[in-house]
Amino acid sequence: MRFDILTLFPNIFSSPFQESILGKAIEKGLIQIRTINIRDFALDKHKMVDDSPYGGGQGMVMKVEPIARAIEWIKAQNPSAWTIYLTPQGNQFNQDICRKLSSRSHLILLCGRYEGVDERARELFVDEEISIGDYVLTGGELAAMVIIDAVSRLLPGVLGSDRSAEEDSFFNSLLEYPQYTRPFDFRGNSVPKILLSGNHSAISLWRRREALKRTLARRPDLFAKANLSDEDKELLKEILREKRVDKGGDGV
Ligand code: 6GU
Repeated sequence: MRFDILTLFPNIFSSPFQESILGKAIEKGLIQIRTINIRDFALDKHKMVDDSPYGGGQGMVMKVEPIARAIEWIKAQNPSAWTIYLTPQGNQFNQDICRKLSSRSHLILLCGRYEGVDERARELFVDEEISIGDYVLTGGELAAMVIIDAVSRLLPGVLGSDRSAEEDSFFNSLLEYPQYTRPFDFRGNSVPKILLSGNHSAISLWRRREALKRTLARRPDLFAKANLSDEDKELLKEILREKRVDKGGDGV
């Protein structure tokens, strides 16, 4: 899968993709990430990429022509590339959108700065607009990194072969169960004994129960959407019974 990032600040991307899982995915040729400086597509001799807004007001607006030329240059190489504009006005990114994007072979990620891009760039060249949450960033670059990271880990071979992306949170609408590793006792805080029992079915059941408990306590919105099996429903009854005994939240 290819990611082309259109940005005024390509240096932002120089190190984040060199490390760890994405670094290996690039080495293995599973993903290709290219940063393209929009300024290289400016038409005038001053390489101007932004200008003041028509109608007045604060700040600067990114000009349409350099964006148009950059996207057209990429599309000439691959007409099926899908163009995403990163903006707080976009659809909020989630695992469903992530899964859909992971089925494409080439994404163009247009990063806005300042007061954003000229509306005509959106109308004429953008296929989809995405936000990563309800807060304001200084530009779309960090949002582009978030999307590349989340999409890449869904691609075949990117995560180790011994685990699948599907096991993780949100695939089945539940948060993950708590994890522990050595030492058994840290300053008087020990690991739940069941995890040392060697009883794999008991451990699975405990983990499922903790995942249900945690999701119910922290993300009732996700819990409401979860598909619960009959076994889950039994575990849920136990959890609720326990809660009544505690008279209140379990603090997980
Ligand atoms: Cl995609 N861009 C900016 N500038 N701010 C954001 C965002 C994107 N998503 C959330 N906040």
